Amino acid sequence: MSPAPQVRILPSKEELFHAAAEVFCALGSQAIRERGRYTVALSGGSTPRGLHQELVTNFSTHLPWDKVFFFWGDERHVPPDFPESNFRMAKETLLSKLPIPTDNVFRMRGELPEANQGAALYEQTLREFFHPAPSQFPRLDFILLGIGSDGHTASLFPGTKALEEKQHFVVGNWVEQHSTWRITLTYPVLNNAANVMFLVEGSGKAEIVRKALKDPAANLPSQKVLPVNGELMWYLDQAAAEVQPAFST
Ligand code: 6PG
Repeated sequence: MSPAPQVRILPSKEELFHAAAEVFCALGSQAIRERGRYTVALSGGSTPRGLHQELVTNFSTHLPWDKVFFFWGDERHVPPDFPESNFRMAKETLLSKLPIPTDNVFRMRGELPEANQGAALYEQTLREFFHPAPSQFPRLDFILLGIGSDGHTASLFPGTKALEEKQHFVVGNWVEQHSTWRITLTYPVLNNAANVMFLVEGSGKAEIVRKALKDPAANLPSQKVLPVNGELMWYLDQAAAEVQPAFST
């Protein structure tokens, strides 16, 4: 039974991103102390931009960035220079602004004709980097996630095939509701991480956050992110926590 998530509510989005950056760097320092490296999966969407900016502006000296290795939780089925590319967003807001060696960056190949080709390549990349034992899954130190208004996370959308995946680390996922393919890490990898942080800001997310944290019957994809042997954190600003009954901050 996964332990209850740690829920932190910060008064403003600025304080949210600062607190998230502090945790990101503290976990990084610990991982590098203990294992010589810090492996993180970035998220797509707009919310991470605030965290990236905070890391660049106020935490650029808090980690030896040559010991930090970047992966992604998901990617759109587009080339890396397209506006919708999660890689492009991270490159523009984080990777190009810190001394991060390009060899430390492992992006998903969203430009390949078939999303499943990109998924298979990325699974190979994860195998070569993490060397998981047979039938084991890679264990990332930190995975950043967001939540969509339909309760999706990474590219695990309601009603899609990837929700049922038990073997593969990464799959191409057809998302009917958006008529598009995505590439996404699967639950076995998300739930094998040492730390998973949902980073959520704004009143527009308040209702879905309430459901995700308070309504087990909602059966949302984000509710199935329950690290087996790791920490689950929900970092919210006050606006995103608006409809929550009293929470410890
Ligand atoms: C993506 C993301 C996705 C995102 C949510 C929230 O590629 O879009 O990985 O899961 O985290 O859609 O997005 P916002 O931060 O833009 O609200």
